[in-house]
Amino acid sequence: MLPVLLRNGRRAVSVIGGVRTGRGTDTVALAGVQPRRSIIDQSYSVHFMDFMGTSIPSSMKKLVVTKLSHNFREAVSVQNAAVPTPGDKELLVRNRFVGVNASDINYSAGRYDPSRKPPFDAGFEGIGEVVGLGLSASSRFTIGDTVAYFCNGAFAEYTVVPAKESVPVPAVKPEFLTLLVSGATAYIALKRLGDLAKGETVLVTAAAGGTGQFAVQFAKQAGCHVIGTCSSDEKAGFLKSLHCDRAINYTTEDLAKTLRKEYPDGIDVVYESVGGSVLEVAVNNLANKGRLIVIGFISGYQTQVGIPHFKGATLPVKLLQRSASMRGFFLPHFMSDYREALGNMMQMFVKGRLVCEVDCGDLAEGGRFVGLESVFRAVDYMYAGKNLGKVVVEVAPPSVATETLPQCEILYRRDLSQACRAAAFTSRHRKSKTHRSTSTRSHSGGSQNSSLHSKCELL
Ligand SMILES: NC(=O)c1ccc[n+]([C@@H]2O[C@H](COP(=O)([O-])OP(=O)(O)OC[C@H]3O[C@@H](n4cnc5c(N)ncnc54)[C@H](OP(=O)(O)O)[C@@H]3O)[C@@H](O)[C@H]2O)c1
Repeated sequence: MLPVLLRNGRRAVSVIGGVRTGRGTDTVALAGVQPRRSIIDQSYSVHFMDFMGTSIPSSMKKLVVTKLSHNFREAVSVQNAAVPTPGDKELLVRNRFVGVNASDINYSAGRYDPSRKPPFDAGFEGIGEVVGLGLSASSRFTIGDTVAYFCNGAFAEYTVVPAKESVPVPAVKPEFLTLLVSGATAYIALKRLGDLAKGETVLVTAAAGGTGQFAVQFAKQAGCHVIGTCSSDEKAGFLKSLHCDRAINYTTEDLAKTLRKEYPDGIDVVYESVGGSVLEVAVNNLANKGRLIVIGFISGYQTQVGIPHFKGATLPVKLLQRSASMRGFFLPHFMSDYREALGNMMQMFVKGRLVCEVDCGDLAEGGRFVGLESVFRAVDYMYAGKNLGKVVVEVAPPSVATETLPQCEILYRRDLSQACRAAAFTSRHRKSKTHRSTSTRSHSGGSQNSSLHSKCELL
């Protein structure tokens, strides 16, 4: 017979033997059961699982890289797997939205870590609810918390995430997901490597995409004159709405000629994501003391080598003649800046000072990206240059369980084994923390975020 813990209040924290611990806990009463331990035993691996009947199934779907290839469809397959159990310092997150990144195909091609052999899990970032956690993780998180994270294995219905890599978010809105990689890259790269000064000219390539949209906004906030490249008039209109001074639709205007003619003094800072011939144009148009930040080179990702052709022989001459520099940026190398960047961006978003454009594929062939299988369509959509804003896939609708079920149980497990002692508690006042996002291709921010504002102060 399993011991039963009865308690009121919503916080499901580390309570074994009637000890009051964690944040927001209230009194816990044991119903007819003598506690086996009076304190939490750190020698055990303890897990608290939101075990709400059907809310955590025994198996789930996830995307697994089974063969190294830059062709995402060839490399990745949908597999069934057991829902993982979080370790002591980990959270089990039920993913609501996951972000698609250009580098998902670099990862599936094995370019991130050539020593890594398949099978391995795909996907870099997600947002959802905590449905299980380890003891140490419970000092900062609890079941029902809404979190976002930047960590491998996001293309899954459930992902185990180290608590230290999880960011509390006020609500499960896909807009917050845009900040984890795309926003953070623009924020940190421009801050650390851009040396932006008021009045300088900044060129952003792939400007209407996931990270480009943020680079445009941060450069504008720094008082710069901003030029953005894109492939359609719709995207150019979007860039104008972000106060981009000059949107260049390179399918109708020649980028090199336009820059030469309209910016004869050159470009001070380039936020460059495309590579190849676009990089060449950017280098050729650098101003004296110009800084070119290499963010990526997407035009080569779908090739065997992954690197687009670049005529670089004269590069040292061009840099020297203008005292210019090229600087590489890779987000994982700047994690010491990460929390500050996210906190500031979330504040900007909830105050209406940052547009976080999300593209869930509502206008895509086949419709909105819903369900893990639609990650394949979402990757194709991005590589067809159709996305406006950050490409996001909705993994699952809001959990019915977290909104309505009055009861859940805490499972207390030892060393990841299935042998467990379980405790049940009543959580009648659990309030829903999930918000279904309905708007896409509409700018988010301003008054609609006012209710999130106070919650964001906690970040
Ligand atoms: N260094 C880092 O840490 C870091 C972090 C995040 C992202 N990135 C880089 O940032 C870039 C953008 O990534 P993202 O995830 O935010 O994607 P995204 O900008 O949302 O989508 C990619 C955009 O690139 C353009 N594009 C797509 N395929 C292309 C091709 N074959 N040739 C030229 N342009 C193409 C398209 O815009 P248009 O059709 O409008 O041109 C497309 O919308 C990538 O290079 C990525 O590797 C780097």
